[in-house]
Amino acid sequence: MRKTRAYAITAEAVAKERARTGGDVSQIDVTKIIGLDVLELPDVGHSDVRLKILAVSAEHNVDHAALADTVNITEARGGKIYPGNSAVGEVLEVGNQVTLFKVGDIVLTHCNGEPDKYGFPLRIWAYDQPDSIGWYSEEAVVGDWQLVPAPVNCGLSLWEMAALPLRAPTAYHLWRRGLGIYRLKVPREKKAVLNVLSFGGGVGELFLMLANFEGHKAFFCSGNPERRAAIEAIGGIGIDQQAFNRFKTKDDIKAFSKKAKELTGGEGMHIVCDMLRGPVFEAGLAVQAREGVNVSSGWQLSQNVTYNSTVQSVKQVTIDHMHYETLDGCWAATELYGKVFKPTIHKEIYSFDDLPRCFHEMHENTQTGIPIIRIAAELPAAVKSIT
Ligand SMILES: NC(=O)c1ccc[n+]([C@@H]2O[C@H](COP(=O)([O-])OP(=O)(O)OC[C@H]3O[C@@H](n4cnc5c(N)ncnc54)[C@H](OP(=O)(O)O)[C@@H]3O)[C@@H](O)[C@H]2O)c1
Repeated sequence: MRKTRAYAITAEAVAKERARTGGDVSQIDVTKIIGLDVLELPDVGHSDVRLKILAVSAEHNVDHAALADTVNITEARGGKIYPGNSAVGEVLEVGNQVTLFKVGDIVLTHCNGEPDKYGFPLRIWAYDQPDSIGWYSEEAVVGDWQLVPAPVNCGLSLWEMAALPLRAPTAYHLWRRGLGIYRLKVPREKKAVLNVLSFGGGVGELFLMLANFEGHKAFFCSGNPERRAAIEAIGGIGIDQQAFNRFKTKDDIKAFSKKAKELTGGEGMHIVCDMLRGPVFEAGLAVQAREGVNVSSGWQLSQNVTYNSTVQSVKQVTIDHMHYETLDGCWAATELYGKVFKPTIHKEIYSFDDLPRCFHEMHENTQTGIPIIRIAAELPAAVKSIT
């Protein structure tokens, strides 16, 4: 049996940290919850691929797993999970029925854990999909259906590419849903250029890159100057979320609404991407144009939202929810790497040993872009030129 080093979260560690902090989520130290473990890899089956993991990005559902703030997923999964929703890897071995990949290929993983009959995920890989093992490990064995060829020559660095396998399909789906719903109400014949707003974060940034690429006006309301600068560099408009105290009071939302009106000639935002909910949801709704669409697939600040149904009906506003892309959508989103998706990554590339610190800094919201962890000390020749 082949063994690999892999990060794990245990229900025991979650409970211990909860007890230490008296349940105060703001005091929880993620470094005490995510730890190195040794994992036995299964044999490579007929349709499986064995991978050497090269680089991964940190994702927020690890924070949710560690805090157990939405559902105590580690407990629900029997006491231990191996997280890691996205990776760039090198193919080391393939099963005898694998035709799409060969040894030496560079590949991406997606996290659609089990598609429903229309392709949407019923569950997410390495989170709530039973028996799924994630990719914060040195090696992994996965079904070939879970891989997409990496566009090594797309112009992105290995680290930029590692930022995208989860976030780009999410942004791609949010955008095609938001735009599709808006176009059902207001066709292109009547309105060509839309005002598109997103709030902070890597997914929000990628969503705006799509809007900007297609000729719309992109507005990024982020508290982070580096992230705002990146959108401004491609022609978008940055709005400092800290100037509105991250929408702590009704007056902050009113001031934000006034600002949005000024910036859009009184029209408001046609499509809003809100990945955080909580006060961000209210702010997004307040600046929504008539016939507007609010799309989200995140709930970091709150799982529940309330809104005035009468007001939204009169404004013909649609509030939409999604989770993650279909398998086909993951492949399509990958075509846009480097062409549309040029992610802002955090200035430090973390080492494998520093992965817990990376999650601590993500929890503290001190990173200036999408956090990347280099897993492999030795990189294959195929990617050496893009590091
Ligand atoms: N369903 C899915 O498939 C899916 C996929 C990806 C992400 N998500 C969820 O979407 C959310 C964003 O993900 P991401 O990958 O874009 O995150 P990210 O790149 O790690 O960025 C996190 C962002 O959250 C913002 N933030 C943190 N605390 C905040 C607060 N108190 N008030 C307002 N903003 C705050 C920060 O915005 P500033 O720039 O303003 O500091 C930061 O840029 C996460 O909760 C994640 O779990 C869901």
